[in-house]
Amino acid sequence: MVLHTGLESLVMATNNAHKLAEIRRIIGQKIKILSLDDIGCHDEIPETGDTLEENALIKARWVKEKYGYDCFADDTGLEVDALGGAPGVYSARYAGEHCTPADNVALILERMYGIAVRSARFRTVIALIIGNEEILVDGVVNGCITAEPSGMDGFGYDPVFKPEGSDITFAQMDADAKNAISHRGRATARLLSVLNERFI
Ligand code: IMP
Repeated sequence: MVLHTGLESLVMATNNAHKLAEIRRIIGQKIKILSLDDIGCHDEIPETGDTLEENALIKARWVKEKYGYDCFADDTGLEVDALGGAPGVYSARYAGEHCTPADNVALILERMYGIAVRSARFRTVIALIIGNEEILVDGVVNGCITAEPSGMDGFGYDPVFKPEGSDITFAQMDADAKNAISHRGRATARLLSVLNERFI
């Protein structure tokens, strides 16, 4: 079934400038992407889910139910095999409630010290709500945790994540190279396919 709803804009349930720039670069020509600020939403949306899927849906439903906009929300986790999949859904606050990205990186390196099996993956889930339809897509990039941080670009765990088939970390890549293979880039490409097939 092909629906042509004339979708002109979509809210991305974030004010994160990195994410908005990444998404606008990929989708921005086709659909205007609005931030939470743009729709006057200044709420602390609770991220109380136990999975990436639950958190993405909580954020998207919040925007749809309280503000009435078609929207999407993403949630990302770094899953480290030797740590039983941690930090996973708790990636943002791995080192504590008010920790910095540097604290998280330091804690991962500490817990991985001396561990030989360093495989890990980033996974992004995007929840899209258009009308009363909810659609989930995801994107994964496999890689490994390095022994020490390298690179200045990117954010979060980028300095210690080396994607499969690469000699450098995400933090050593420019934005286009990272987007081409990243979890969020892949999830966003799937989101774009769904939008193209069904809603644009
Ligand atoms: P969020 O769900 O996108 O806010 O991501 C949760 C946490 O995962 C962030 O606070 C970052 O620590 C980490 N993270 C998400 N995406 C990336 C990425 O592309 N590179 C490095 N770390 C990331």
